[in-house]
Amino acid sequence: MFRSRHLALAVACFLPTALLAQDKPKVTAASPEAAGEYLMIVGSCHDCHTAGWTESKGKIAKDDQLTGNPVGFKGPWGTVYGKNLRTIAARQSEDHWVHVLQTADGGEGDLPMPWHNTAMMTEEDLRNLYKYTKSLGAKVGARIPRNAKPGMQPQGQYIDLSTQGAAAPADTTKKP
Ligand code: HEC
Repeated sequence: MFRSRHLALAVACFLPTALLAQDKPKVTAASPEAAGEYLMIVGSCHDCHTAGWTESKGKIAKDDQLTGNPVGFKGPWGTVYGKNLRTIAARQSEDHWVHVLQTADGGEGDLPMPWHNTAMMTEEDLRNLYKYTKSLGAKVGARIPRNAKPGMQPQGQYIDLSTQGAAAPADTTKKP
């Protein structure tokens, strides 16, 4: 009798945890928009889509956030820009936003946008990122230059992400 009751209790305690463990991780907050606001920060989205975010250590007025970054990222893919996500959310559907972030824009998306990471995000998190961005409303920020093709000189400021220098020498300090 004691044994079976003990077992029943053990099963009752274990089951909910086992079920929860199958759920994909996701951020919960007071509202979808609040979850999206948090995800934008910890997902590093502002670092590339909000001008001055990194330099100011995140102290950019909310009204100016996510309006794009005119400093380009130059690499083997050419030069691309962290776009204005507010105008994009205003004219695109939530489903399209999810599709773009899950598929690297149908395979068309360039680096350094971390498509490989957003593809792994739980769909609800991606939807909450959209809901937050949309809630900010469309706003045009600094003028973002056009993308430049590989080998072309970009307009304005850019960060060069090409790998420089010789490969690191082999580590000879390791014992066999
Ligand atoms: C390292 C810089 C960087 C980070 C971090 C980053 N992005 Fe991007 N993002 C870019 C660049 C650059 C592009 C443009 C890529 C291209 O032109 O193919 C882009 C494109 C996009 C697009 C497609 C815009 C369009 O044209 O439809 C979306 C949506 C987007 N980013 C959302 C996000 C979200 C959400 C996050 C955070 C989870 C994020 N980005 C983090 C640099 C970044």
